Amino acid sequence: MRIGILGSGLMGAKLGTLFARAGHEVTFSYARSEAKLERLAKEAKGSARAGTPREAAQNADALLLAVHWSRMDDVLGQAGDLSGTVVLSCSLPMNDDDTALVVAHTSSGAEELAKKLPNARFVSAFNTVPSEVLFDVFAARRRSKRPSLVYCGDDRRAKNIAVKLIRDVGFEPLDAGPLRIARYTEPFALLVAQLAYERKGGPELAYRFERF
Ligand SMILES: NC(=O)c1ccc[n+]([C@@H]2O[C@H](COP(=O)([O-])OP(=O)(O)OC[C@H]3O[C@@H](n4cnc5c(N)ncnc54)[C@H](OP(=O)(O)O)[C@@H]3O)[C@@H](O)[C@H]2O)c1
Repeated sequence: MRIGILGSGLMGAKLGTLFARAGHEVTFSYARSEAKLERLAKEAKGSARAGTPREAAQNADALLLAVHWSRMDDVLGQAGDLSGTVVLSCSLPMNDDDTALVVAHTSSGAEELAKKLPNARFVSAFNTVPSEVLFDVFAARRRSKRPSLVYCGDDRRAKNIAVKLIRDVGFEPLDAGPLRIARYTEPFALLVAQLAYERKGGPELAYRFERF
């Protein structure tokens, strides 16, 4: 598939690299320097290039949305019309100092984004996993027992694409249901992050939690 990466930071850079290594054509976009995007494309060792958000979105079979909540309007504005585009979001609706969700309980970041992009084919995935575990999961992808990764959405085609990409990275996809389930998976993502970054054992603990 052709996969556009909107936001080439901790999540976007790693997932984009793994998608390229799994054989997809990847366009890295949206970082503060063009040189970083070029470096990521080179280091991905697959079919990858650097581009603008608009180029990443053009003819993409799927777009990974991986920016801080505060950058969302900016990156979506640069990407242009996403009607009909499959958008996978791993973004969490965090406040500016990353201490709290700004959308929770009665809605979710995913649902708010889907309202912003009413014609896109939206799916929420990869946001319950700390970026630090992604390469290890990919390296162990041939094992019979894979860690689960939840995803949710209302669009069948977008969910099918998410299933393929989740498997390519090395997880076993677990359909958590419609997009409104993101109200519960987003706070769960913060629990995983809390375990990963604030407890002894760090990402290893989060990995085991994810496996459960
Ligand atoms: N990190 C995790 O483990 C994790 C886990 C689950 C969910 N998430 C969610 O995933 C999303 C992305 O997280 P992340 O940790 O990957 O964030 P990040 O490392 O900060 O990456 C964000 C990307 O946006 C770019 N960016 C920021 N400001 C910009 C600007 N003014 N102009 C152009 N580009 C700009 C950054 O550029 P630079 O590369 O130049 O900094 C970076 O490439 C967030 O919504 C987060 O809540 C993260």
